[in-house]
Amino acid sequence: MLALEHIDLTLQDGSDEVRILNGISLKFEPGKLYVITGPNGGGKTSIAKVISGIYQPARGRIMLDGKEITGWSITERAKQGIRYAFQNPPRFKGIDIGWYLRLAYPEITENHIRSVMAKIGLCPENYLNRVVDSTLSGGEMKRLEIASVLLGPTRVAVLDEPEAGVDLWSFEQLRDFIVHSHQRSEGRITIIISHHERFLEVADEIVVVAGGVVQERGTMEKIRPLIEEGINCRWRNICLGEEA
Ligand SMILES: Nc1ncnc2c1ncn2[C@@H]1O[C@H](COP(=O)(O)OP(=O)(O)OP(=O)(O)O)[C@@H](O)[C@H]1O
Ligand SMILES: [Mg+2]
Repeated sequence: MLALEHIDLTLQDGSDEVRILNGISLKFEPGKLYVITGPNGGGKTSIAKVISGIYQPARGRIMLDGKEITGWSITERAKQGIRYAFQNPPRFKGIDIGWYLRLAYPEITENHIRSVMAKIGLCPENYLNRVVDSTLSGGEMKRLEIASVLLGPTRVAVLDEPEAGVDLWSFEQLRDFIVHSHQRSEGRITIIISHHERFLEVADEIVVVAGGVVQERGTMEKIRPLIEEGINCRWRNICLGEEA
C-alpha cells in the first residue's frame, strides 16, 4: 500500500512561495490501476513528483507498506520499485535504446528488448541502435520511457500523460501494453495521469485533482457526470477576461 497523508507542497516562484498542493491524502492499493485526472494546472504532475521524490512536501507523510519514505531520495525510491515516467521525458546523449532499457532493468535479455520494442511499435531492426537523444521524436521517446518504467520489478509505476504526443494508430497498442503489463505484474500499483477516456475506462479508481486538492474519487460511473459537466464544473477555475 502506498499512502499520501495530508501532503502540502510549496514551490519557490522567484522570491514568492506558491502553495501547489493542499492536504492531499490518497491511498493506493497493490494490484490496482488508478487514473488521476483534472484540469491543467490542477496539481497532477506535482503529486507524481512528490511520490517519486523529485519534490519534498512541506507537510505530510508518504508511506510505503507501513514504512515512512517521505525523506527518501529519488534513487532510494527507485530501488524500492517506485518509478516515474515524466510528462516530458528527458533525453540522453550517447546512450542507445538497448543500453537505455538495460539501465532500467539490467537482467533484460536481447530477446526481451526486441519484444518490448515491438510491443511499443518501435521496430528493433530500425531502432535498436538509435541514440536516446533529441533525434527521437516526442512520441517515440514517450513510448520508450513508458516501456523502461514498466520493465522489471516495478512496484509503483507513475505514468504522466502517457498519451501525450502518441499518434492515434499507436495509442491503442500503447494502452494495451500498459494494461497488460499491469495485469501480469504481481500486485503493482499503476498510477496513470491522463485526460483520455480510454484510460479512465480501465481504471479501478479515478481521482480528480483540481486546485491542488483531491476533489473526487471513484469509479467511472461516479466521475463521468463531473467530466460531462465540463466547463461549468464547480472545481474548474476559469478566468473570464475580455474577449481576445
Ligand atoms: N516550479 C514552480 N513554481 C511555481 N509554480 C509551479 C511550479 N511548478 C508548477 N507550478 C504550478 O503548480 C500548478 C500545478 O502544476 P502541475 O504541473 O502539477 O499541474 P498538472 O495538473 O500536472 O497540469 P497539466 O494537466 O497541465 O499537466 C500549476 O499552476 C503550475 O503553474
Ligand atoms: Mg502535468
